[in-house]
Amino acid sequence: MLTKHLAQVLDTLNMKALLIWAVLLNFYKLLKTGDCTSKHDQVLSIQVTTHQQADIMRNISSQYETVLWSPASPEHIGADTEVHLFVPANNLGTVTDLLHTHHLTHQVLLDNTEELIEMQTRNESADPRSSTSYYERYHSLGDIYYWINKTAQEHSDMVKVILIGSSYEKRPLYVLKLSGRQERAEKRAMWIDCGIHAREWISPAFCLWFVQYSLNFYNQNNDITEMLNSMDIYVLPVMNPDGYKYTWTTNRMWRKNRSSSKESNCVGTDLNRNFDANWCTKGASNRPCDEIYCGQFPESEPEAEAVANFLRSHKNSVKLYLSIHSYGQMLLFPYSCSNEEVPNHAELFELAQEAAMKIRRHYRNNYKYGASAKTIYLAPGGSDDWAYNLGIHYSFTFELEDRGRYGFLLPPSFISKACNEALLAVKSIARRGASNRPCDEIYCGQFPESEPEAEAVANFLRRPQRLGLLESSHEAKAPRSSKLPQEKHCGSPGFSIFVTLILAVAAFTVSFMRHSASAFGFAFDAALDVLSSIIVVWRYSNAAAVHSAHREYISCAILGVVFILSSLCILGKAIHDLATKLLPEVDDFLFSVSIVSGVVCVILSVFKFMLGRVLTSRALITDGFNSLVGGVMGFSILISAEVFKHDPEVWYLDGSIGVLIGLIILAYGVKLLVDMVPRVRQTRNYERFE
Ligand code: ARG
Ligand code: ZN
Repeated sequence: MLTKHLAQVLDTLNMKALLIWAVLLNFYKLLKTGDCTSKHDQVLSIQVTTHQQADIMRNISSQYETVLWSPASPEHIGADTEVHLFVPANNLGTVTDLLHTHHLTHQVLLDNTEELIEMQTRNESADPRSSTSYYERYHSLGDIYYWINKTAQEHSDMVKVILIGSSYEKRPLYVLKLSGRQERAEKRAMWIDCGIHAREWISPAFCLWFVQYSLNFYNQNNDITEMLNSMDIYVLPVMNPDGYKYTWTTNRMWRKNRSSSKESNCVGTDLNRNFDANWCTKGASNRPCDEIYCGQFPESEPEAEAVANFLRSHKNSVKLYLSIHSYGQMLLFPYSCSNEEVPNHAELFELAQEAAMKIRRHYRNNYKYGASAKTIYLAPGGSDDWAYNLGIHYSFTFELEDRGRYGFLLPPSFISKACNEALLAVKSIARRGASNRPCDEIYCGQFPESEPEAEAVANFLRRPQRLGLLESSHEAKAPRSSKLPQEKHCGSPGFSIFVTLILAVAAFTVSFMRHSASAFGFAFDAALDVLSSIIVVWRYSNAAAVHSAHREYISCAILGVVFILSSLCILGKAIHDLATKLLPEVDDFLFSVSIVSGVVCVILSVFKFMLGRVLTSRALITDGFNSLVGGVMGFSILISAEVFKHDPEVWYLDGSIGVLIGLIILAYGVKLLVDMVPRVRQTRNYERFE
């Protein structure tokens, strides 16, 4: 009996030992495969404790084919830093061996990042059983452009699209302007940009989330309704479209934009180091290959320049600046570029604290908060500091989820929580920024400077529906009670076409009658003016935002072709006149024609320049340039005839001016084509939505 029992106990013990042994063996195998024989790219979390280890870590992250996730640059690695490092499979063995040798302990944060990436880029909308909404997925750049157009069209009462510039690779930078339906005098504004850094995918996802939420809950939720009634909100969903595209097609870990220069083979500038705030000092790099490369000079990058220009021209209304990044869960405010405290530090701290507290209470999630330089690291040239110094004294950078578990590869299932908590923070901060408290020193800062000429022209344009959704980025500041007639604008291109047509006919007649190269050139230019005015009319004929940017570029490209053709004709005629030594003939008729046409063309050109500036339309400005050339040619007939009268030696002035103008038009035409063709190509696919 006893022996039987004993045997049973021994048996179970044996079994257990065997089991434990098997488990251990498997665990060992698992460890081994996880470490050096994994065929997958991994993200490692490495604890650095000593200065020597920090040196080693800096070396590893810069010398091996790895991508540093956190901190942003090797120079921020110090003793007592948790480093997150992406290591491609082929380097995994070498890197982990090095870590072991130097007693750096590490943990595998993500094994098999390829699969995670694949999951994020899978187009679930193709799957009818898919239960997640559009906003709980990541979207390609093309999808986002499509979404921008669609949103603007479906909510045309509350959304306008503003083209603020284009990227290095000539992709359009669209801002959505959200406004409540309530008219209020002196509306303040808030700016939100997303996707400065390409790999931080949760950031553009937040901008989309934010816009959709605002539109859906306007007049449903008090916070949102009040926010949109008291403020206009400018949302730039993807500030770095080239980089974002690149993360979808080529390298998921890309951070910078995609600009390149002759000086280096390395591509990309860190847009969040390219602003003019202690630019390129400690915390940024002047080496083009580095992740925190500051660029060639402040605002050297078209993306940063476009944002800076927009904010400069809206600094009187924009009171709140928000820039959305990931990851790390932080609410940061200036300064990043120095350890100094901003004058309203206490107030910003309080705002961030309140927002973080709300997130903790509602979502049981912890967000750090504080001045950037002290909370994360020195980072000069950041957009938030620059905006602050411009006078936008409520300026924040959010680092969204998570803390490093998935880092930049946050799975789509986390999008809704990450966005909702950030939204809570935005609402909390915006409530304060929107409040109409009596002016304190910081808050109301400088007084609006008036731009009289922009205002005058803006008054002409008080009928937004005629201009389409694509609105001027130099907004009309004039009050509604403007007395200037609105019909002027609508009639003006027609008028311009009519006048220039007459001039063209007159000038052609004159040029054939009097053999004047200038007159011929002028005539040609007047004809061109007619054509360019027609193109401009076409460019503004459709109210849909969709077409505006694309049309603008097409218009300019066509103008480029027209310029080149006419320059060749002008040149041919002028050179022919010079070669045959044609003498200018003068009489009263010629005099009056050239004076009238010169004056009319100059007036037209000034008008077009102003209109073009207000509408930020290159097509219009080009049109203006065209008229100006016409004016110059008109006067040149007069001048060359006059000069010839006094000094018969100088018979060649007319022809020479013809040659000169021909060359200028040629150069401008070529420049237009070079600038516009890539833009036409880049906008073609994004504006297909009807
Ligand atoms: N992580 C971001 C970066 O490295 C933000 C750092 C804070 N800097 C700032 N300007 N807010 O660019
Ligand atoms: Zn970032």
